[in-house]
Amino acid sequence: MQKVNLTIDGTLVEATEGITVLEAARAEGIYIPTLCADPDLEPYGGCRLCLVEIDKMEGLPASCTTPVAEGMVVRTETPGVQEARQRTLELLLTDHPDNCLVCSKNQHCDLQKVAAYVGIDQPRFKKLERQTEIDSSNPFFVRDSSKCILCGKCVRVCNEIQGLGALEVMNNGLSSKIITSAGDIPILESICESCGQCVAKCPTGALMPKNYRWASKEVSTVCPYCGVGCGTYLAVRGNEIVGVRGDPENPANKGSLCVKGQFGFEFVDHPDRLTSPLIRRNGRFVEASFEEALDLIASKLNEYKGDQFAAVASARITTEDNYVIQKLARAVMATNNIDHCARL
Ligand code: FES
Repeated sequence: MQKVNLTIDGTLVEATEGITVLEAARAEGIYIPTLCADPDLEPYGGCRLCLVEIDKMEGLPASCTTPVAEGMVVRTETPGVQEARQRTLELLLTDHPDNCLVCSKNQHCDLQKVAAYVGIDQPRFKKLERQTEIDSSNPFFVRDSSKCILCGKCVRVCNEIQGLGALEVMNNGLSSKIITSAGDIPILESICESCGQCVAKCPTGALMPKNYRWASKEVSTVCPYCGVGCGTYLAVRGNEIVGVRGDPENPANKGSLCVKGQFGFEFVDHPDRLTSPLIRRNGRFVEASFEEALDLIASKLNEYKGDQFAAVASARITTEDNYVIQKLARAVMATNNIDHCARL
């Protein structure tokens, strides 16, 4: 890849041709506020907060959509840039609720962070009333239109990464809003597959998991559901899992998850979960130790051979365990009746 040399805030920067000014600045550790840019998504240029000054270019281009060029001179913090960002942010806040303290996204909200960075003393624009529409039809997450800043990340991740297109932007200007692409219907009735990628990308509290709770720590692990091996971070509070996010560094999923990996963790602490083997005695299931259960199974296996036996292996166990199960079926039980849940 060709390299180009440019100057950002007086620092000489070597960047790969084709990347944006924003990417080049970030690689140099120079912060530019953004709300719609995302390293996983195509440049969008919607929020107008990443504006910069570039010599020989008209106006204030968006750094997230402007490619680097040889000899470019970029300034990210001039009075003109700061004034434009403040104005943009103030307009954004005119119809955004002021109830941050009771918003679940409080302190995790990108809008808050950008507002703190840009710095707004006295908003100059009149507060606008915005109709609140809450869609809680989905069992896993809630959409609150009053907190939406129209960054388009939910629409874009659903199109560009999930390949579904369950969401779209409707109308222009003040009447713009995100709707389901089948018309403005509840998300549960749309083609949404509840993968939760829109929730993960949302910079504000407009898309939030239901029953969201802050975690006290994160634990890196692998999703237990299928054999893909998606990397996850479990949000843990005490001894309880309160949330999951995809690991962006994991080569199997690069941060994405399906509905099961994203939201299907309640079974871990569910009161109905079996935590010890059950053996039927006198017509009733009775708790037993694993030693007792395995001894019983081993003694019963002796009674069957060949086509009297079948085994169904599982995507939720390791490759090695699956190998051993087929070996048991073929070599010990003398049958090819071996199947796997991932084939269903
Ligand atoms: Fe560049 Fe939103 S981050 S326009």
